Amino acid sequence: MQQIQTELLQIDPLQPDNQLIQRAATLIQTGKLVVFPTETVYGLGGNALDTSAVTAIFATKERPYSDPLIVHIADFASLEPLVTHISAVVRRLAKAFWPGPLTLVLPAHPSIPRQVTAGMDTVAIRMPRHPVALALIRATGLPIAAPSANRFMHVSPTTAHHAFTDLHGRVPLILDAGPCEIGVESTVLDLCAEIPTILRPGGTSLEDLRAVLPTVQRSQPQQFEPGETHESEALKSPGQMLIHYAPSVPSFLFIGSEEHIRAAMLAELERRQAQGERVGLLITEEDMPTFQQSGAALYVLGSVHTPERVAARLFAGLRTLEESGVQAIFCRDFAQEGIGLAIHDRLMKATGGKIINAEL
Ligand code: TXA
Ligand code: MG
Repeated sequence: MQQIQTELLQIDPLQPDNQLIQRAATLIQTGKLVVFPTETVYGLGGNALDTSAVTAIFATKERPYSDPLIVHIADFASLEPLVTHISAVVRRLAKAFWPGPLTLVLPAHPSIPRQVTAGMDTVAIRMPRHPVALALIRATGLPIAAPSANRFMHVSPTTAHHAFTDLHGRVPLILDAGPCEIGVESTVLDLCAEIPTILRPGGTSLEDLRAVLPTVQRSQPQQFEPGETHESEALKSPGQMLIHYAPSVPSFLFIGSEEHIRAAMLAELERRQAQGERVGLLITEEDMPTFQQSGAALYVLGSVHTPERVAARLFAGLRTLEESGVQAIFCRDFAQEGIGLAIHDRLMKATGGKIINAEL
């Protein structure tokens, strides 16, 4: 891929500078890509109606074409030309959750480039609530296709620095508005399925969705089959690839009760240390007394009682431990309620389903 100069420019997250927004908008209007902040993670944005811009998104990320993109809009009127039909349920969900971390899978209008939808007849649409994202979309006057601004198979970026690490030399401009508020990606809700189904848990909780649409169901948790390639999984169920977010260091998810998780982690840590390995731990404040003196590299996500904070720090924690030169990363599990469902899902993906059941 041809190397280009990447500009990393700070922008006020609440009152984005108009000139800078205009500059970013012009890049997108002329077929270029821009990394911009959303409330969930940073996105790699391009004109969703421009086939060559969309192609560039896949090339920049090294993402397979079998994994479709989310189209971002800034107002409800912009939805109309993108879909064949807007149901009452869509209006109800949009009223309750847009702008915000909810992506809806809807019947795609035939005018949307096939690369965006991976050739399917559905399109994923979201209205982000980050002021910079909204200002940028409005300034372009275009729907913006934007996957997370990471290299394929890497952890999503929650800071501009994460995006720079993965994509510098490949994009002309990264807008830096500081760390993302939510820290995990949007919830993807399939409204084309017979029963509204969550394809990816995320920033909008199952509980909140059910309060507005009681029939919403979780998709079946995916089984991990070691022999399977990423691509074949992508074709079966886009967005549910189990090892999508994997860091480059072998990672393990410890499940069970709090005490059992700590005991099992400590035992496994000592076993590896005895072999001369360095291990990184992704833990909570409550785990600290157990591991403070353990000699492991520690990343404290927050308290089990503040899962929002844990979610916001999760990807930064994975990247920090990955870069710390450890030979293995141990993660502790979280209760699957509220945002905890998304935290558990990302930990499952980051560990590629390598679970250690602390109860056994
Ligand atoms: O929070 C987010 O959603 C971020 C920010 C940048 O908006 N974006 C994001 O995009 O996470 P990406 O491309 O990393 O993830 C999009 C997910 C993928 O899992 C993809 O398979 C799924 O949405 N998806 C997109 N179009 C779909 C469709 N038509 N049917 C089913 N799943 C779809
Ligand atoms: Mg992604």
